[in-house]
Amino acid sequence: MRNFIENMPKAELHVHLEGTLEPELSFSLAEKNGISLPFETPEALIAAYDFHDLPSFLKIYYAGMSVLQEESDFFDLTWAYLEKAASQNIVYAELFFDPQGHTTRGVAFETVITGIHNAQVAAQEKLGIKSKLILCFLRDMSADSAMEHLLMAKPYIDWLVGVGLDSDEYNNPPVKFKEVFALARKWGLKLTMHCDVNQKNTLEHIGQVLDDIQVDRIDHGVNALESDALCNKIKARQLGLTVCPVSNRFVVQSLTSQEIRTMLSKGMLATINSDDPAYFRAYLNENFIALQEEGNFTKDEILTLAANAFSVSWLTEPEKTDYLHKLSVFSDTRAE
Ligand code: ADE
Ligand code: ZN
Repeated sequence: MRNFIENMPKAELHVHLEGTLEPELSFSLAEKNGISLPFETPEALIAAYDFHDLPSFLKIYYAGMSVLQEESDFFDLTWAYLEKAASQNIVYAELFFDPQGHTTRGVAFETVITGIHNAQVAAQEKLGIKSKLILCFLRDMSADSAMEHLLMAKPYIDWLVGVGLDSDEYNNPPVKFKEVFALARKWGLKLTMHCDVNQKNTLEHIGQVLDDIQVDRIDHGVNALESDALCNKIKARQLGLTVCPVSNRFVVQSLTSQEIRTMLSKGMLATINSDDPAYFRAYLNENFIALQEEGNFTKDEILTLAANAFSVSWLTEPEKTDYLHKLSVFSDTRAE
């Protein structure tokens, strides 16, 4: 099963680039940029990762960003993730980035997006891994700040496939960003939003992303299972859910394998993702492997989860058909 998962061609749709910052890269960038980290070694930094809920994770995640200063730092970060992803047979990735996490530290939007974009182009050329970029707004900042950043992105619109919403959900409902997302949609961008597990007013928030924002996908969204009405809407609209098993485990002490199986049995398009793999110490293969072990998933179920990711991705229809064909060739070969 491990081999099967490792060799399977996969898409990843929920990964925060800043969450792929490995401690070793963090130390080398800190040294280059003359920044002192409050840890002696990468191992000591990892030992300080103590997450039990979203705010405790976010505190460490934002502190980690301080080493990202120059365009080449964003290139190196993105390249390292894409290289790791390609080594795990991820053939396509949709990447989140948090510009407000950088502009608030005095790093220009242009610096951030240019470094990321150039690494995406280089990785496609040299590693054969395709990727698209999603600009996320920090929901614990104002709607005005989100709008300012959307306007900053206008000259780079061709480098983006969509916009998302992340950071602390507590008292930051989706409707706070209704105008920002409406404008993004007008510009032709796809829309997604985080509905993290077990947040206050989660069912209300999931209702808002469906009805007020009319998203094209939902990040996490596991709590939707508590409402038949929400499940029916998600299914009727064929919306993908980007579930992140190892990330969820820090909050709910389970990889949500039962919930993922329930989604599949209801015909909801669940996908498996890594979220912040450097912090949670698990990339996509490790997420699939741990999930399979906890939930005793069959190869067919694993293939369905992988196929869902291509189907609900923001690739063009011919690209989707091509990747789904590659996955079915893989599946046929393995069955022999
Ligand atoms: N930013 C990075 N990872 C996140 C997550 N899992 N939820 C909300 N915001 C995030
Ligand atoms: Zn996330």
